[in-house]
Amino acid sequence: MAEAVRRITAVDIAKRKNGERIVALTAYHAHTAGIVDRYCDFILVGDSLGMVMHGLETTVPVTLDMMILQGRAVMRGSKRALVVVDMPFGSYEENPEQAFRNGARVLKETGAGAIKLEGGKHMAETVAFLVRRGVPVMGHVGLTPQAVNTMGGFRVQGHGEEGQKLLEDDARTIADAGAFAIVMEGIVEPVARAVTQSIAAPTIGIGASPACDGQILVLEDMLGLSDWTPKFVKKFGALRDQIEAAVSAYADEVRAGTFPGPEHVYEPKKR
Ligand code: KIV
Repeated sequence: MAEAVRRITAVDIAKRKNGERIVALTAYHAHTAGIVDRYCDFILVGDSLGMVMHGLETTVPVTLDMMILQGRAVMRGSKRALVVVDMPFGSYEENPEQAFRNGARVLKETGAGAIKLEGGKHMAETVAFLVRRGVPVMGHVGLTPQAVNTMGGFRVQGHGEEGQKLLEDDARTIADAGAFAIVMEGIVEPVARAVTQSIAAPTIGIGASPACDGQILVLEDMLGLSDWTPKFVKKFGALRDQIEAAVSAYADEVRAGTFPGPEHVYEPKKR
């Protein structure tokens, strides 16, 4: 009989502060989740799916139903890694009750082990409310893409003394409120290091230097599938070129009549 696999929990991730580095990637589909699951400690069903899968310009239009649909797919495709589902813009900011109602819906309807929400100090009360009621929360500070319209674009955070202080306050209050880990996105190196050294929760960097307790990237970016590569991304693959070559070879063969070949054709049964 196959051995039962125990899923990594939010508590396991929290215990990794100052320990073995935490490895994470995003996934939105069952098949990619199945691969990521074998190598990562947690899989984020990020609201970046709006931009990556749906061609939206920002994550702002992403809905709770979109997140739940892909969260279920990722849960079906994985068995070992903790699955964290992003709360989309507008689904948690109003008050702690709204956040609990929608966070509970995500956990119930996907089976995921945690949710992630963006925001610093102003979200601390909500984080504490959720955690006290059984919803594990991952924080997300620094460059928070859902705030693109108030930030005036996707801007690296933590510049200057004031920027550093704001970020330190944000991360500390979210950690003190009970977040089991905090994504730090687009943050200058010395600030990412100072925050990581000063808070109890593990920090997960994306464009925030190697000083963090772990790293996350958007899968399609590191596979070389996205058409734009930010500075902080290393391409570990060249999937865009490989897909293009495969699609072009398929089109050529169909046009030339060489695909399907005899080996792809069904023969009638011999009587
Ligand atoms: O939505 C997402 O993919 C994210 C990562 C960039 C951390 O929040």
